[in-house]
Amino acid sequence: MGYTQGLVCRECGAKYDLAPLHVCEACFGPLEVSYDYDAIRASISREEIERGPQTVWRYRKLLPVEDEPIVDLQTGCTPLIRADNLGRELGLRNLYIKNDTVNPTFSFKDRPVTVAATRARAFGFSTIACASTGNLAAAVAAHAAKANMRCVVFIPDNLEPSKIVNIAVYGPTVVGIRGGYDDVNRLCAEIADRYGWAFVNINLRPYYAEGSKTLAFEVAEQLGWRAPDAVVVPTASGALFTRIARGFQELADVGLISRATPRMGLAQAAGCSPIVSAYEADSLTIRPVKPSTIAKSLAIGNPADGYYCLKTIKETNGFAGSVSDEEIVDGMRLLARTEGIFAETAGGVSIGVLKKAALAGQLDPDETVVVYVTGNGLKTPEAVAEHARITLTINANMQEFESSMSEHSLLEPVPA
Ligand SMILES: Cc1ncc(COP(=O)(O)O)c(C=O)c1O
Ligand SMILES: [Zn+2]
Repeated sequence: MGYTQGLVCRECGAKYDLAPLHVCEACFGPLEVSYDYDAIRASISREEIERGPQTVWRYRKLLPVEDEPIVDLQTGCTPLIRADNLGRELGLRNLYIKNDTVNPTFSFKDRPVTVAATRARAFGFSTIACASTGNLAAAVAAHAAKANMRCVVFIPDNLEPSKIVNIAVYGPTVVGIRGGYDDVNRLCAEIADRYGWAFVNINLRPYYAEGSKTLAFEVAEQLGWRAPDAVVVPTASGALFTRIARGFQELADVGLISRATPRMGLAQAAGCSPIVSAYEADSLTIRPVKPSTIAKSLAIGNPADGYYCLKTIKETNGFAGSVSDEEIVDGMRLLARTEGIFAETAGGVSIGVLKKAALAGQLDPDETVVVYVTGNGLKTPEAVAEHARITLTINANMQEFESSMSEHSLLEPVPA
């Protein structure tokens, strides 16, 4: 058996059985999974986790499943990389990158979806669905393929071509909606109400969101069982941001780390930054916006967890920042050039906001900082295409090679 106790309303505390529900019938507050932390504390240990699978399922006791078989693409246990080159450029001596570009469908979304798909199958659903800015749809389609479930995904019809391939190849029905993510989401909420489909980020949202806690669990374990001092998280709906904070808190609550939450830094694209705007206005009220940014995966104008993100920033003494499209491209190139990691536009948002926070003195040079890079660069190659060309083209002869190399000063010794 698992350690889940049911669902609980975040606002009024009303309790529900584990079911495909996401809003409280009494007050419309969001429902969350509750756990028996005393029982978990009594049975969990670092050693047991370290002996577990090299996937998110090593943290099974802190995930909302019981005995059912997992829908498993071996997600998680992605590298935490010490980023000395990037750190040197930014004046940060203990900078780490959580490289979540290398998950099965090339974004962190495999984490929430392995949990949601597992629950969807256990609840008896035969059709799995989602409202997506692109990455979620790929993760849902791949897990549906593995679980032999019917799959229908809904996306804005103007996504990057590579993202559409990355979704459609798994064989789902892909519905392109004329409009942005907020239109997609509105329609999907209606469909979820009317048809018995498992929308991972709507009626299964409480379970889905829990999967992202593993991005905190892994970082703490990889740092030798401690929380970093500060993190930077790319944010759209806010599920990822709030669950990373929760993940660190839970590890402290069950006695696996001594001190909990790092300062939580929230990163958005300037062309879609409703949470950053509220933060800058010192308000807890989100004013929805109409997104316009190359970071399409983060283009959610009305973020479901925006209010809770703002509370988390306050509670952790965190910060929030946004970057322009140009700064996003610069961030992608800086990361690739310094650390050899090719991230999508959302990664450019993370790196851009990290850079701004470092330059503004919001990060201490000696503290441990983790920046989350959550999607692969091959999903959005057009963002950097104009800077990523063949350097020169020559005929296959030594003379041309030598004259062109000396023009580029490449035959001289590499300076020490
Ligand atoms: C690559 C990437 N990073 C971050 C996010 C933000 O996730 P959330 O909507 O949970 O804030 C998304 C959302 O789609 C994403 O695709
Ligand atoms: Zn309630």
